[in-house]
Amino acid sequence: MINRRNLIKNTTITAGALLSGCCGFTNQEKTLSSLSVAFEDQFRFGTSIKNDTLETNDNGLLTLIAKEFNAITADNAMKWEGLQPRLKEFNWHKSDKFVNFGQRNNMQITGHVLVWHKQTPNYVFIKDNKVVSKKLLLQRMEEHISKVMDRYKEVTEWDVVNEAIVGGKWLDSKWYKIIGPDYVRRAFQFARNANPSATLIYNDYGLTNPKKQEAIVDLLSGLKKSGVKIDGVGMQSHFSLEKDFPSVDMIEQTIERFARQGYQVFITELDVDVLPRAWKYVRQPPLQQLHISEIPPKEARFLDPYANGLPEHISKELADRYASIFNVFSRQSDNISRVTVWGTLDTESWKHDWPILGRTNYPLLFDKRGNPKKAYFSVLGEGNN
Ligand code: G3I
Repeated sequence: MINRRNLIKNTTITAGALLSGCCGFTNQEKTLSSLSVAFEDQFRFGTSIKNDTLETNDNGLLTLIAKEFNAITADNAMKWEGLQPRLKEFNWHKSDKFVNFGQRNNMQITGHVLVWHKQTPNYVFIKDNKVVSKKLLLQRMEEHISKVMDRYKEVTEWDVVNEAIVGGKWLDSKWYKIIGPDYVRRAFQFARNANPSATLIYNDYGLTNPKKQEAIVDLLSGLKKSGVKIDGVGMQSHFSLEKDFPSVDMIEQTIERFARQGYQVFITELDVDVLPRAWKYVRQPPLQQLHISEIPPKEARFLDPYANGLPEHISKELADRYASIFNVFSRQSDNISRVTVWGTLDTESWKHDWPILGRTNYPLLFDKRGNPKKAYFSVLGEGNN
């Protein structure tokens, strides 16, 4: 559990982040610095919130989030399986908590995500044991988008479509198979109708990859020609400690390219993986992941080297990598609307289970107790420069 006294002692505090929120900071506490204050002239600084945090009202973690960040995304609560687990049965329990927390703390709230191939229940694509028609699937898509966006008018930024492209091609998802490439255009149209003033984002990973970047530029230009307005591009930014994966030059060029095309850039899911690459352990298709315990011990020790803690020199390397990434973000701040880290505490990260299950990773800015890591201070330093 995060201890509030340590939190205040060890970290710095977001001025004005708390209006009447969970955490009751004194004015003196609020005047200290924090990530969102350090970057307030550049872009919003956000984090993602997990279902468990919402369910258990984890006050320590919510306090830390309110103190440090001025934007939030739900990592799972607003996905289709969370909001409409069964046909026409909506469940607003966690998403209401999430949105209320953001409002109480005067935060920018992002809706993640309206249309994706993952975490979308099978029923969506089936009727009477048969694959649904294109017409019915579009109806279901429209109903989902309009119900969700109507309920949350205070959510003014939406990841409308996630990950439609893989490599340089369309991902062969059920959305694509049944509706065809037009599914992206229709999703944005439905979202625009539901809330004409919302900021609508196309969100994807690996945008620094030249083939993928080209395909996404083509996709977005095509949509523009057809009269559909997309406001922003979400660069997920699941990066690695390796300096060329991707290089800061590639990151900067990618931001510049989308900005030149007229899009606001959103860094939507930033984290920095410190572990050795392990893609070869994912059997695809069908996607099947190995647990680290299923890998021979010698190899496993190589793949999961920091199970007992992060050595000082890697912690420093991580801080340097974060500093160089934020150096680019600062330089590009005119083109960037928001930077969001994908989780607050290391223990929350999806990176413990990808691509191998059960490793110990350290990709974020706070340790498991909520203490700021070296990486936190190097990011803060970039913001205060
Ligand atoms: O809720 C069940 C729980 O009931 C069950 O006991 C447990 C056992 O594994 O699983 C729980 O579900 C997990 C869920 O997260 C909630 O914790 C799923 O297994 C797990 O696969 C799921 O992972 C999420 C992942 O998306 C799935 O696609 C991550 O938390 C979430 O951070 C991640 O986020 C995505 C973005 O939405 C899009 N971009 C990539 C990013 C990372 O994958």
